[in-house]
Amino acid sequence: MEKPKLFITGANGLIGNILWEGLAGTYELYGVDVEGGGDRNIAVADLSSPEEIESTMVAAGPHLLIHLAADPSPDANWESVLTNNIIATRNVYEAARKVGVKRVVFASSNHVVAGYEDDLPAGGKIAPQDPPRPVSYYGASKVFGEAVAHMYYECYGLESICLRIGAVQDNDQPAENLREKQLWISHRDLVYLFQRSLEARVGFGIYFGISDNRQTYLDIRNAVEELGYRPQDDSFRTPNTRK
Ligand SMILES: NC(=O)c1ccc[n+]([C@@H]2O[C@H](COP(=O)([O-])OP(=O)(O)OC[C@H]3O[C@@H](n4cnc5c(N)ncnc54)[C@H](O)[C@@H]3O)[C@@H](O)[C@H]2O)c1
Repeated sequence: MEKPKLFITGANGLIGNILWEGLAGTYELYGVDVEGGGDRNIAVADLSSPEEIESTMVAAGPHLLIHLAADPSPDANWESVLTNNIIATRNVYEAARKVGVKRVVFASSNHVVAGYEDDLPAGGKIAPQDPPRPVSYYGASKVFGEAVAHMYYECYGLESICLRIGAVQDNDQPAENLREKQLWISHRDLVYLFQRSLEARVGFGIYFGISDNRQTYLDIRNAVEELGYRPQDDSFRTPNTRK
């Protein structure tokens, strides 16, 4: 049986590399990134140009898409956020609609709800349905991305799963910092969450993406129930983080 074609934006970044390795067995992979390099099937294009992303996507003809490309810094300035997060995300959705992509998995962020962090009661959790409270242009750009995703679902039936990712570490170890530890997602849980997001029978949804961390302030129950996400790791398990 032919593998479904999966197109990954920002494929040369941290998460792009992890997903490429984890999903290559299941999907026929195509990528795009503004940075070239490597011997994988990754085209060089700037997603802030509608023509560049459209021609790259037409050439690949994907069924499914993972949209990772963005300026991922919470301190990113307005010009960079506008170009790489806001304009680029709209261009990706418009190109996806034109080439007939069935579903997009959008890399949103915990920064959509960062405003709750200072006034949460002890043991309190933020649910994905709580109103967004961004405190940065970066966080606001992810609220915009979720809204565009919803708009393309409502207007065109283009499905989207928005994953508000916690904290991915290059070395796959939880950070010492308490906040980052609570937000940790291991590489294998990340790959599984994206895989479930590509496959689950859900038209549109918003979910937090973290491991099964026993101490956290993000509620992942809807990801478990609706996507079938089964995280295996816990940043607070000692001495090993692996089950
Ligand atoms: N790493 C995390 O812990 C984390 C947490 C929450 C959300 N996210 C989100 O996940 C996504 C991937 O994050 P990452 O950590 O892999 O970041 P990264 O910076 O390692 O990768 C992003 C990639 O996107 C590319 N890119 C940026 N602007 C582009 C443009 N205009 N056109 C084409 N390519 C462009 C970059 O060249 C880079 O390779 C981002 O959207 C980020 O906001 C990441």
